[in-house]
Amino acid sequence: MSGLRRGFATYTVRVAQFQAAQADTVIAPSLLAADFARLAEAADAVEGAVDWLHVDVMDNHFVPNLTLGPPVVKSLKAATAIPLDCHLMIEDPARWAPGYAELGAYNVTFHAEAAADPAALAKDLRAAGAKAGLAIDRDTPVEDYLDLLPEFDTLLIMTIKAGFGGQQFIPAMLDKVRTARTHARAGHLELRIEVDGGIADDTIAAAAEAGADAFVAGTAVYGADDPADAARRLRARADAARSPH
Ligand code: DX5
Ligand code: ZN
Repeated sequence: MSGLRRGFATYTVRVAQFQAAQADTVIAPSLLAADFARLAEAADAVEGAVDWLHVDVMDNHFVPNLTLGPPVVKSLKAATAIPLDCHLMIEDPARWAPGYAELGAYNVTFHAEAAADPAALAKDLRAAGAKAGLAIDRDTPVEDYLDLLPEFDTLLIMTIKAGFGGQQFIPAMLDKVRTARTHARAGHLELRIEVDGGIADDTIAAAAEAGADAFVAGTAVYGADDPADAARRLRARADAARSPH
């Protein structure tokens, strides 16, 4: 092989390795924007077009809103094969979060602001068979939690104030995404960075460029005439923004 061709072969392998090191884009529609009397139909509507179903659990204490809990997650688990991404906006997650893992949730994310010992809870979640996720709300700095990231599979960065769907995306939150992604890369962590709030056609690329690789979208998916098509469009935009250029 000529030096030039060998050089090209090495380059090709390097590009392939770089691409392999980047996790696939995750699109997670939030059921909060679906019809709560038709959750199974909402799941079916995006089957094959999405990776996770985002389930917002709110307890009327950690956030003012109130949504659903374990019985509904149990029914959803039986009704769909799409992995469930449970986002617990609740107080006392140490008491409640492992129950969601035991019900078969794929990923269980609790809020840093509500947890006394996030690392211990992450261990419990993993022991119960789920991925462990840490969420930080709008007013919480990410720097306080960087040292804990090796204990987690997912870091959820709120791009709104937690509690309600349909709010406007806050671009300044992407600084936290950049900080977390830089930290994760430096430490060779396999960490999903998920953004949640106001993710839509006009905001997803900026979040992807900042280093997010999992995208929650409520209104942008379930507010669309064709939710599966809306999810595919979001994925295409995220993939385009994440591809090396
Ligand atoms: C709000 C929830 C979000 C919400 C996002 O606290 O965590 O998951 O459903 O809704 P949109 O995508 O409409 O901003
Ligand atoms: Zn959420």
